[in-house]
Amino acid sequence: MRRTQKKLIMPVCLTMASMLAAATSYAQTVTIPVETQNNALVLQTDGEKNLKMVYFGHKLGNAGEYQSILSQYKQADDSGVLNDAYMPSGSASLAEPAITVTHADGNKSLNLVYVSHNVTKIDDDISLLTVNLKDPAYPFEVTLYYKTYFKEDVTEQWSVIKHNEKGLVTLNKFASANLNLKGSGFWLKQYHGNWAMEMQPEEAKLTHGIKTIDSKLGTRANLYEHSMFMVSMDQPATEDEGKVMLGALEWSGNFKIDLELDVSNNLRVIAGINNSASEYHLKPAEDFTTPAFVYTYSDHGKGDASRKLQRWARKYKIVNGEGDRLTLLNNWETTYFDFNEAKLADLMKDTKKLGVDMFLLDDGWFGNSHPRNGDHAGLGDWQENKQKLPNGISSLVKEATNNGVKFGIWIEPEMVNPASDLYVKHPDWVIKQPNRPEKYFRNQLVLDLTNPQVQDFVYGVVDNLFTKNPTLAYIKWDCNAVIYNAYSAYLKKDQSHLYVDYVRGLYKVLERVRAKYPKVPLMLCSGGGGRVDYGALKYFTEFWPSDNTEPLERVFIQWEYSFFYPAITSSNHVTDWGKQPLKFRTDVAMMGKLGFDIVVGRLSENDLAYVHGALKSYDYLKDAIWHGDQYRLQSPWDNDAASIMYVNDGKSKAVMFNYLVNNRYGAGTKVPIRLKGLDPQKKYSLKEINLYPGSNSSIGNDLTFTGDFLMTVGINPDVNSGRASVVIELDEVK
Ligand code: DGJ
Repeated sequence: MRRTQKKLIMPVCLTMASMLAAATSYAQTVTIPVETQNNALVLQTDGEKNLKMVYFGHKLGNAGEYQSILSQYKQADDSGVLNDAYMPSGSASLAEPAITVTHADGNKSLNLVYVSHNVTKIDDDISLLTVNLKDPAYPFEVTLYYKTYFKEDVTEQWSVIKHNEKGLVTLNKFASANLNLKGSGFWLKQYHGNWAMEMQPEEAKLTHGIKTIDSKLGTRANLYEHSMFMVSMDQPATEDEGKVMLGALEWSGNFKIDLELDVSNNLRVIAGINNSASEYHLKPAEDFTTPAFVYTYSDHGKGDASRKLQRWARKYKIVNGEGDRLTLLNNWETTYFDFNEAKLADLMKDTKKLGVDMFLLDDGWFGNSHPRNGDHAGLGDWQENKQKLPNGISSLVKEATNNGVKFGIWIEPEMVNPASDLYVKHPDWVIKQPNRPEKYFRNQLVLDLTNPQVQDFVYGVVDNLFTKNPTLAYIKWDCNAVIYNAYSAYLKKDQSHLYVDYVRGLYKVLERVRAKYPKVPLMLCSGGGGRVDYGALKYFTEFWPSDNTEPLERVFIQWEYSFFYPAITSSNHVTDWGKQPLKFRTDVAMMGKLGFDIVVGRLSENDLAYVHGALKSYDYLKDAIWHGDQYRLQSPWDNDAASIMYVNDGKSKAVMFNYLVNNRYGAGTKVPIRLKGLDPQKKYSLKEINLYPGSNSSIGNDLTFTGDFLMTVGINPDVNSGRASVVIELDEVK
């Protein structure tokens, strides 16, 4: 009985003690609000100068009140040691760490205390906060970086780790960020997938303990799990309601995102490079810079949060995000490896006939001693195959120009087939265990990009193509294999650096490519969407979401990607996958960067007339689709029809896409769908576009409504099995 009483009293005493401690040290605390237009993340030191993250959410009207937040938490436990802004391990912090180290003397304990902070205003929109932390017992320091994009409500957070110890320090774990979220419950929406099944969502309430999303695949890191996710707070957020954070790690290799619901019901999100098999040995005075973790937050649901991220990506991250893109005809699905100059000449004529900007030559154009006539040979030998292309790429570029179109080409420069000259000449450039049998993924192995000679080689593949063909307009950069048997002949004793240094090597190459070719469009492809992240997209103009171009599947895949990536980055090709008519396939592909991979010669006159009409509409609407705001109106997951719209900046032009995704008896749109993002005061004329020749619209002619009507009552696109996809253009009536 007595014992029980003691137990009950203890926590109360502890609480009072910690409150007293907080009160006495109050004058010494430093409070650092990291604010954007609508949001704030608040850092605060405690009495021992430990840096805590005490708030994340909507910005308070009175910033002075941030310092009172912590006193409102009466958690009678160790919560004080759980909310570190960058959790060290092995001292007084006992939750899942952001950083774990082994000091030069073998000691594994780390403590990080606040030293100073500094804010630099980069321009009207961007600020950079740095917070310096150091270990009182060791010459070891970490600087936290918070780069805020005020108008976009986006923050990029990363850290730089450094020491001056006598010898190497081993970084056992080195996350980019750890965030502490408060709420009465947390729901994680995460993604898994596989080839042709990218972006399969799952949403569930987080329970106590740690939920991990990670990848150990090396390259093609997003093949099975994706490094972007969202967390709803208090209740599951919907498209337009609820508190939600969207996060993504800007890293194209192994990642690890831990979501720890702790003893005080706080959610700790720890995001960074996966430390699995990746201890990093850091020399004195050397910097280790983690990749950035980018995040945004909204009180108004997933839609608002995703528009913030999309705006940020267009403005600041992807190459030429506010610029133009090329429509194209690709030959992958129509020829595979089987082509020659005559066939390609016809395809370039078809490109012109179709009315798109560019012909994109895919895999199969290279390799001589090991011709690339299938996926088992040739990777690494980037010389034109003399049998297929006796006059080389330059004659193809000329042929394209003669037809009034541009020319683009596919490469996969990080890879090698054992059946290649490169493999024979440079076995030490290949990632493989010296004492184990080789294991292949798509009959190929990965080149060792930690090796500067390999970096030169990979850069050279791109540079040679552009140097020899200055009017080459586009590159599709593929990456089809994961890293098995991770071993680098170059790294010697530092094998645990391989996964990290591989990605760094890749970025070094891409940096060089961009220094010399700053604007040329590059497509990021990885056997579909196996590598889509903002670390890589910094160098690319667009990505290939999936080899699955079946248009019904594609509605779902594009829907999910769109939470994180703007439409301008999504390369959508019309192919022969699936049973849907050309109109449906094209209407779906128009929600992004439109391309085709079909046999043009097989199109009927009506088909061709339809495509020409669609391309004209696309040209008119692409500004809204590429640079405007996207609104998800009706989800494909729980409706017969999916509906998505894009509105341009001035709210004068918009387009609404509607697709039947459940083709059962009687399925269709029975009630109006409310539009979003329009100006309630403006009047809009509505017109159904992309009509297949000979068909009429059933939504009526001369339709004009106010934005108010369209957003309050809505309109019915009349989607049904006879009208499985319906595209409606809206124009302001002046
Ligand atoms: C995988 C890509 O996703 C495809 O689009 C195509 O380029 C093939 N590789 C070529 O091998």
